This record gives sequence, C-alpha cells and structure tokens, in this order.
Amino acid sequence: MTLRVGIIGAGPSGMAQLRAFESARQDGTEIPEVVCFEKQSDWGGQWNSSWRTGLDASGEPVHSSMYRHLWSNGPKECLEFADYTFDEHFGRPISSFPPREVLFDYIKGRVEKSDVRKYVRFNTAARWVSFDEQTREFTVVVEDLAADKTETYVFDKLVVSVGHFSVPNVPEFEGINTFPGEVLHAHDFRGAERFAGKDILLIGSSYSAEDIGVQSHKMGARSVTFSYRSGPMGFDWPESAVERPLVTHFDGRTAHFRDGTTREFDAVVLCTGYQHKYPFLPGELSLKSPNVLYPANLYKGVQWQDNTNLFYLGAQDQYYTFNMFDSQAWFVRDVILGRIEVPAAEERMADMQRWLDRQDALACHEAEADYQSDYIRELIGLTDYPEFDLDAVSSLFKQWMKDKEENILGYRDIPHRSVMTGTMAARHHTRWLSAMDDSLERYLHGPSEDVDTGTLEAIVQDRQLTTP
Ligand SMILES: Cc1cc2nc3c(=O)[nH]c(=O)nc-3n(C[C@H](O)[C@H](O)[C@H](O)COP(=O)(O)OP(=O)(O)OC[C@H]3O[C@@H](n4cnc5c(N)ncnc54)[C@H](O)[C@@H]3O)c2cc1C
Ligand SMILES: NC(=O)c1ccc[n+]([C@@H]2O[C@H](COP(=O)([O-])OP(=O)(O)OC[C@H]3O[C@@H](n4cnc5c(N)ncnc54)[C@H](OP(=O)(O)O)[C@@H]3O)[C@@H](O)[C@H]2O)c1
Repeated sequence: MTLRVGIIGAGPSGMAQLRAFESARQDGTEIPEVVCFEKQSDWGGQWNSSWRTGLDASGEPVHSSMYRHLWSNGPKECLEFADYTFDEHFGRPISSFPPREVLFDYIKGRVEKSDVRKYVRFNTAARWVSFDEQTREFTVVVEDLAADKTETYVFDKLVVSVGHFSVPNVPEFEGINTFPGEVLHAHDFRGAERFAGKDILLIGSSYSAEDIGVQSHKMGARSVTFSYRSGPMGFDWPESAVERPLVTHFDGRTAHFRDGTTREFDAVVLCTGYQHKYPFLPGELSLKSPNVLYPANLYKGVQWQDNTNLFYLGAQDQYYTFNMFDSQAWFVRDVILGRIEVPAAEERMADMQRWLDRQDALACHEAEADYQSDYIRELIGLTDYPEFDLDAVSSLFKQWMKDKEENILGYRDIPHRSVMTGTMAARHHTRWLSAMDDSLERYLHGPSEDVDTGTLEAIVQDRQLTTP
C-alpha cells in the first residue's frame, strides 16, 4: 500500500517538504500520497502577513508576526535555496536585504514552478491528532474553515511544520495593567508610523526588540528605550535610543528599571519572544522547548525520539532559514522513502546528546552560526540536496554581525555575494533608512526615495563592489 504522509502547515518549512517530495517524483521515484493542511487561504506562513491582529476572518488566531516595513534582517545570501536561486527568480541581481513582499515572491516562485499547490488543503486547520499504537497510524481531525466541516484523515507519517514564532510569550510586570498608553506584544505590532513623536519602551533584547526599535526610530519616534533581562544588545544606537536593565514595575506611565532609573513612556512593546505551542497534538507528541538551536527529543533536529513516524520542521532557533528547512525536508523525505536508515533509540539518543552538549558550550553568536552550518552540512551530506559552501555562508553571517556592530541603521544597505551563483548583490536604489515604500513594485522598479546617497557610495566604493 502507498504510504500516506500528512503535513501540517504550508509556511516555508511545509513548502520545502512538498518541494522535496516533488523533486523525488521528478526523478522517477514513486512518492507517498501527500496531503498538506494550511489554515490560511494562501501559503508562505509568516511571509503571508496581514494587517489583522487577534483573530482572522475565520476566527482563527492570526498566524503571522510580520509587519509593514519589515525587511530581511539577515543577508538573503544566507537563506538562498540551492536549487532555486535569486538570479533564477528575479532574472537580475537584487539587493541583499529585501523587504517581506520580495522574499514572499521568491519562496512562492519555487513552489509554483514545481506545481505542488495541488497537495495543499487551504483554509483547513488541524484540530486534533491521535496515534494508534496497534495500527501505527495517525488520525488527524481537521476543520475546513470555508465549508464549516470537520473531516478525518489517516496517515502513516506526520510532518509538523507550523512554525514557533506565532504564540507570544507575555510576561507580567507589576503595574502594567494600569499603564495608560498602548501595550502590545511584538506579535501584534503592525508598523511604527503610530509611534512618531512618542517615547517607546521595548522589553527584550533580541531580533524583535532590535528591529521594532530601529523601525520606531525610522518612523520618527521621539525616543526608544530597550529594556533587557540578560544583557544589552550593545549596538551603536542613534542618540535617541538607550538600553536599560529590566523594568521592575510601572507606576502610571513611568517605568522603573533595575538600575534605579525611571522614565515616562507613551507605549510599551513586549518583544519577549514566542512559545512552542501545538494545540492539536497530545502531550506525548508535543515538543516543549525554549527557542534554541537544538531542541531536545528531535533526532537530527527533526525526528521525534519517542515516535519516529512524527517529524518537526523548522523547530529550532534560526540563523539559517529557507535552505535549512530544505536540508531538513530532504532528510525527512529520505527517511520516509526508506533511503536513510534510522538507528535504534540508544544511538539516536547519543547522537542528539552530542549536539546538545555542543550547544551548551556555545559562547558567542559567531559560534552559533558555525554550529547551525555544521548541523545543515550533516543533513545535506545524507541526501541529494545540492551541496553548497556552508563555510562561506558562516563567514557571511560573521561579516553581517560586524556590519551591524558598525552601523545598525546602515547594515541593510551593504551588498553581499551569493554563495550559490557567485553573483554580487545589487546596490538598492534607496538606503534602508530612507525607504518608506516596501512594496515589491517600488523595490524592483524604483524610483529612489533617497535624499542623500553619499554614505552609501562610500560604503560601496570601500568594498570595491561593482554595481549592475
Ligand atoms: C517577525 C518575524 C520576522 C522574521 N524575519 C525573518 C527574516 O527577515 N528572514 C528570515 O529568513 N526569517 C525571518 N523570520 C523567521 C521565519 O519564522 C521563517 O523565515 C519562516 O517563516 C519559518 O517557516 P515555517 O514554515 O517553519 O513557519 P511559519 O512561517 O510560521 O509557517 C507555519 C504555517 O503553519 C500554518 N499553521 C499553523 N497552525 C496550523 C494548524 N493548526 N493547521 C494548519 N495550518 C497551521 C500557519 O498558518 C503558517 O502558514 C522571521 C520571523 C518573525 C516572527
Ligand atoms: N526581519 C526582521 O527584521 C525580524 C524582526 C523581528 C523578528 N525577527 C525574527 O523573529 C524571530 C523571533 O525573535 P524574537 O526577538 O521575537 O524572539 P527571541 O529571539 O526568542 O528573543 C526573545 C527575547 O525576549 C526576552 N525575554 C523573554 N522572556 C522575558 C521576560 N520574562 N522578561 C524580559 N525579557 C524576556 C529574551 O531575553 P533573554 O535574552 O534574557 O532570554 C530575549 O531577549 C527570530 O527568528 C528573528 O530573526 C526578524
């Protein structure tokens, strides 16, 4: 009997899984019956963002945490697909840090070309999964949100690819309940225009805090204060931005910080991360983890230790994104096709422990990028996913980290070279700080919104880059 594979979620990870099976089919391999459930009306996951907050039109929790004016925060050269390059998609070099709509267009281009949309049941939310130990089958109850119907499917293998940056982690702070201004979590942030002329407090010291902070500055916030729990980000912030230790409590619109300082604010954004949450899975199948590079209980970062028919994609913290999801999807495909033999529980445990021990010893962001490169290298080595120079990508990550240290408002203007094609990225027609139109149309066709290109010219000349 043909194997039946269920995939829950058609974001970049689920799309990678579909593409992986399709590429085997195109090579003449008989592939399983595949059904992918996506609760939204389109694929793309986080990249398919919406102005809505709270519940969507179907009454489902809004999935995407992305917002207007979101530009890639890492170089696109670090996430490029090895089997579908930016050059192939756009037909000419584009800049290294494109806005959301441009990356959304890129990931859609690959799957549209491989004709895998037919496998996806859109507007269909997974509601409950159970596993029968006797038959070794998963029963998946789904709700067709458009038809208002409940249906049941049975699968031999199940791939969970619902992401883990959608359910906010919302800590309590004394007095926040009577803060008179706006209080929101980063998940509900949709753009910083409303912060013009305001004093903004951002709690957290990771990517959301950093980006919402620079967005607020770009859109004219009067001041931006970051409040950290573990340590400051330490960038060379513009004069109107400062870092403070954690808030101890609020008194009206005044925040009190651990160092004894106080300040009044108009709005508070909790950039305090997300929870792994899988409400459709029973406890024994549900991953519980903080946001780390190697969540425990996942062999090769994807296969559930206690039930090897269950897989998670994209469950780790992410330096790499799209090409890492590919490496995982190709591995999962080959395990399902029986091309990769999975060792016994003890050996899997020892393998995971090696990665967990190495994770515990990671001392800096540079080492973390190397760690994820090694992880991907191992997966790619086991499949026919096209090999690429992961050391070169690691070097790119390190250059990007330096660029951010040098200029947190300007690093997105710097072009990088593709590891896949050798193409140098284009210099964008507008510096990120001046770009107020983040649409695909404006990005691809201009005209420039820059008032002064002097700084950018200097950077480009300094790097001796050619421009297209
Ligand atoms: C604010 C923000 C900015 C980011 N910026 C970048 C960036 O600049 N560059 C970068 O490379 N990465 C970025 N990321 C990382 C991003 O998470 C990945 O790029 C990628 O979207 C992860 O893909 P995924 O498929 O694993 O998960 P997601 O993109 O989260 O997709 C999961 C999909 O599962 C669906 N789903 C969820 N529950 C169900 C259910 N019960 N039934 C059916 N379907 C369901 C959702 O609707 C969604 O379509 C950002 C993330 C966030 C939160
Ligand atoms: N394209 C973009 O520009 C962009 C923008 C935003 C986000 N993103 C992506 O979104 C993903 C998630 O990033 P994220 O920053 O939201 O989450 P994150 O990286 O998991 O960071 C969570 C932050 O919240 C802090 N925190 C957690 N609980 C706290 C508490 N009780 N009190 C105070 N602080 C607390 C953590 O502090 P500790 O350090 O002390 O743990 C950490 O600084 C990343 O993949 C990122 O790349 C991208």
